[in-house]
Amino acid sequence: MRNREQNLRNKGLKCRRVPKVFFDWSHFAAHPPFPTESMRLNSLLTHLARWRASALLLGATALLTGCDLNFWRMDGHQSTIVVNGPVARSQLEVFYVTCYVTLAIFVIVGSVLAYTTWRFRAKSAADEHAAPPEQGHGNPLIELGLIGASVLALVIIAIPTLKAIWFTYDVPVEDKADVYEVNATAFQWWFRFEYPAEQIPGSGPLLASNELVIPAGRPVRITLRSMDVIHSFWIPKLAGKVDMIPNRGNFLWLKADAPGYFWGQCAEYCGDSHAVMRLRVIALGPREFNDWLNQQSAGARTVTAAASDKPKAQFASYRSDWRRNERGYSEKFELNPLDAWRAHQEPDQHEDAALIAKGRELFQAKTCFSCHVIRGHMVGGSSAYPDLTHVGARTTIAAGLLENNPEQLARWISHPDQVKPGNKMYVTGYLGNNIKLTPADVTALVAYLSSLK
Ligand code: CUA
Repeated sequence: MRNREQNLRNKGLKCRRVPKVFFDWSHFAAHPPFPTESMRLNSLLTHLARWRASALLLGATALLTGCDLNFWRMDGHQSTIVVNGPVARSQLEVFYVTCYVTLAIFVIVGSVLAYTTWRFRAKSAADEHAAPPEQGHGNPLIELGLIGASVLALVIIAIPTLKAIWFTYDVPVEDKADVYEVNATAFQWWFRFEYPAEQIPGSGPLLASNELVIPAGRPVRITLRSMDVIHSFWIPKLAGKVDMIPNRGNFLWLKADAPGYFWGQCAEYCGDSHAVMRLRVIALGPREFNDWLNQQSAGARTVTAAASDKPKAQFASYRSDWRRNERGYSEKFELNPLDAWRAHQEPDQHEDAALIAKGRELFQAKTCFSCHVIRGHMVGGSSAYPDLTHVGARTTIAAGLLENNPEQLARWISHPDQVKPGNKMYVTGYLGNNIKLTPADVTALVAYLSSLK
């Protein structure tokens, strides 16, 4: 048989330098997997075999760097791997247990496969043409053992899974007395938050839009509803996802370990602008949370000329060349959003009272007030649209999509259809009522809305 191999080699195969390595590469060279015309591919494969040590090292490095979360940017705004609350943590534990069990199965099955492939390989041409070995017909011991091992693996996964289902379902009994209740309602494409404990005389519960402010360290129970289609509530670092279903109440609970700023996202396809239906959760210490509730419960802020003696041209940033999908927030905001949120609670030092007054007039003249509530400033509006009484105190606009600064606010007001395709402000508002805004109108409206702290 050696002769046969030698003959084949002599028959014009030019690829002679075949290393005797991990596998029997001489056999591979005698029977190239690709036609002889692709000698380059074949010689590449033999080269790879020679460099197997380097390849293994490279693979091992890739696996090891995988353990470094920052290397793979695992700690993003919506990471489920680096979490900040007990509910998300219990969900993460289930993920890890499942991962480890399946990893163990992968290693065991892979090792057995690799061992048998190596141990029972064809060592010579005689082996290759030998009659197949005697075939077995089942081994009860191995089969029962495998069934037992599979059941064991499933039980190992099931125990923490059931524990987590129980835990995430509702606030633990010992924490019930401390619960803070909030109602969340989804609309295409934004979230309304209702604080039933904060009743405002003459207008019902306190309302907020897209930014849910909660007390840190306390369990928060959120009742979930939808006004149109099915949406899903998800704050990856805290809890979720739970569906928000029309005509059917649902709920979830979460707790933030410490004060912080968290990104959220609608997690159920809900139409044109599903991908840009976002939200934020801001967790605050007890005193700061109380201050926020008091500030929000008050009516809209009115700027008087005396309060702004040094107006500056900060609202002159109107641009008409916004591109669709252009980035909506700054590096500074992303680096420290909680500080940005705190800064937003304070009025701008250089407000232009005259411009703000003009904006307030325009808000009425352009019929914005027929949808949006600005408590204390105008009569009208409905809770089916974002309440703008304190819109200036939010860090984001357009459902968590754009940073709330004069430039982005001008972009949102002047190009609502581009920022969030299909949104009602454009379809039934601007377009439906043939509302036209000049750059000067936009500038005044931006100044007014920004003053509503
Ligand atoms: Cu709401 Cu997707």
